[in-house]
Amino acid sequence: MKSISLAALGQFKKDKRKFATITAYDSSFAQLFAEQGIQVMLVGDSLGMTIQGESSTLPVTVEQIAYHTRCVRKGAPDVFIIADMPFMSYATPEQACANAAILMQAGANMVKIEGGSWLCDTVKMLCERSVPVCGHLGLTPQAVNVLGGYKVQGRDEVTANQLIKDAIALENAGMQLLVLECVPSSLANHVTEELLLPVIGIGAGNGTDGQILVMHDALGITARPPKFAKNFLAQAGNIHDAIRLYIQEVEASIYPNETHSFE
Ligand code: KIV
Repeated sequence: MKSISLAALGQFKKDKRKFATITAYDSSFAQLFAEQGIQVMLVGDSLGMTIQGESSTLPVTVEQIAYHTRCVRKGAPDVFIIADMPFMSYATPEQACANAAILMQAGANMVKIEGGSWLCDTVKMLCERSVPVCGHLGLTPQAVNVLGGYKVQGRDEVTANQLIKDAIALENAGMQLLVLECVPSSLANHVTEELLLPVIGIGAGNGTDGQILVMHDALGITARPPKFAKNFLAQAGNIHDAIRLYIQEVEASIYPNETHSFE
């Protein structure tokens, strides 16, 4: 299988063809996900919580993301891998370049960074140095101590407008994909329509171009799953069918529905 490109994802958006992505942290699951048809995987810093048992993503290091990226790449040689840049690993554009190099050399096709317009110089510098960048707006878990918890973002006009401005500024700086986490569906729809690049939602309703789920949420492993999660394993009965069901429901706009969304 040939790896999917950012251009192909851009064409999906133009064709209004929705796509499903998922987090992966090891080679066995990455292989299984790829075999069921997942073409884009995120080595998320959520591994701090799902794999390491930490209470936030903050303790995760660049070396750990690089290690898991290598594992995922071995299991799924042909998928498009987005690797999360951990907390403080992109505090300056120069740090971002040095740390992104480690993740790209570990097998990533793109890096993901959390935050708004303050990251424009970083995005520009990474893109100029051939590192594609995925943004992450809305609930940005690395900012949990500033946000005061894992809460829905952009509920009022001021914060919603700021998020829209940030998204546009980052796209203009060179960002090529955007993850929108835990925002009202109407705001996610607005951002998705406004931007040329594909928007991937999680807890952002079903108007975004793609969806992402933490694999533990999709397989019913998370003890207290978030509102937007769906246990596809419970319905499908085995992991292979669960992942295929997830893909089918995203492509058919069945998942997420209103019960998984915020307004
Ligand atoms: O780290 C992660 O898994 C993420 C997803 C929640 C999008 O950033």
